[in-house]
Amino acid sequence: MRCRKCNSSAVINMRHHKLALCGEHYGEWFVDSTQRAIEKYKMFDRDARILVAVSGGKDSLALWDVLTRLGYTSDGLYIGLGIQGDIAYSDQSLARIREFQEKVVPAATLHVVDIQETYGKTIPQIARENTRGHGKPCAACGLTKRYVMNRLAAERGYTVLATGHNLDDEAAVLMQNTLHWQTGYLARQAPVLEASDGLARKVKPFCRFYERETATYALVRGIDYVYDECPHAVGNLTNFYKTLLNQLENESPGAKLQFYIQFLKARAEGFFQAPADKTELHACEVCGQPTTAPGRCAFCRMWNITSAQSAVISADAIPVRGQDEFDDVEARVAESVDVSGL
Ligand code: AMP
Ligand code: FES
Ligand code: ZN
Ligand code: ZN
Repeated sequence: MRCRKCNSSAVINMRHHKLALCGEHYGEWFVDSTQRAIEKYKMFDRDARILVAVSGGKDSLALWDVLTRLGYTSDGLYIGLGIQGDIAYSDQSLARIREFQEKVVPAATLHVVDIQETYGKTIPQIARENTRGHGKPCAACGLTKRYVMNRLAAERGYTVLATGHNLDDEAAVLMQNTLHWQTGYLARQAPVLEASDGLARKVKPFCRFYERETATYALVRGIDYVYDECPHAVGNLTNFYKTLLNQLENESPGAKLQFYIQFLKARAEGFFQAPADKTELHACEVCGQPTTAPGRCAFCRMWNITSAQSAVISADAIPVRGQDEFDDVEARVAESVDVSGL
């Protein structure tokens, strides 16, 4: 088989698109397809200030690379979760991101929010306290990541927050929500989530790419990323659905893409309505972020944040201080999110 563009013999064969390309033309196809998705779903325009949430994995680093090649202005945000396992997962992730940033986007800012330095504990530690030692830290982790991403994007004046979610991620969540007929979640699952009530506008420019397509792009571009997934994600439900969907895809190439695209079509036609009695959002009485619960938001409750000083996070980069310098929760909260621009 030969590249459809240049007829060279080194090819990447995409059965579901009935398309074979060489490495160079694959890279071009991938970048052009991303731009088409950005336009199709009206994600952002040329003047947007984009905050890319980078985890150190292939998807988010590939996304930062593609947006840069397309000429968009984007900065990065990495949230250090303090998850190490046998593979020094968080340390390794930050190292890959820093290498990428220096090499590919030296003029961009990389915001690093280290959860332990900012809030005094790692994600596994706070999760253990909240679940009394039972269960995985993924819920605490998800809540913290969403909170920090939203807050930083809004307070730093970014137009959009872009994440590296790919088709495999989206299809697995879709399957999970469909099997449970979570109509409220289905109504909100989209490539673009508009900003509302202090929540940042969110976009997923890679939502139509198979995971193996983003991996191939990272390979073709020589992007060095963390191959291992989070040690806590091994064996989780999302991965189970991904395996099921891969079996389906093997039998019927293109099935995963159809499942997702046809869902988006049905959704656009109004098939899934947000519940009429939409729960109203209030400002958290401590940090001011939107929350459905009266009083403190779930984040402030989980981290036991009680002082209104925590609202002060838009100051410039705050030097990192050792934990022993924090006298109490309030002093720690006053430091709030540590943002260091490279
Ligand atoms: P995941 O939920 O781990 O599959 O990640 C989905 C997306 O969330 C990634 O593609 C990133 O854009 C973003 N993300 C995940 N973990 C982090 C992190 N530690 N810091 C910043 N962004 C992250
Ligand atoms: Fe958050 Fe694994 S628990 S990335
Ligand atoms: Zn070619
Ligand atoms: Zn709060």
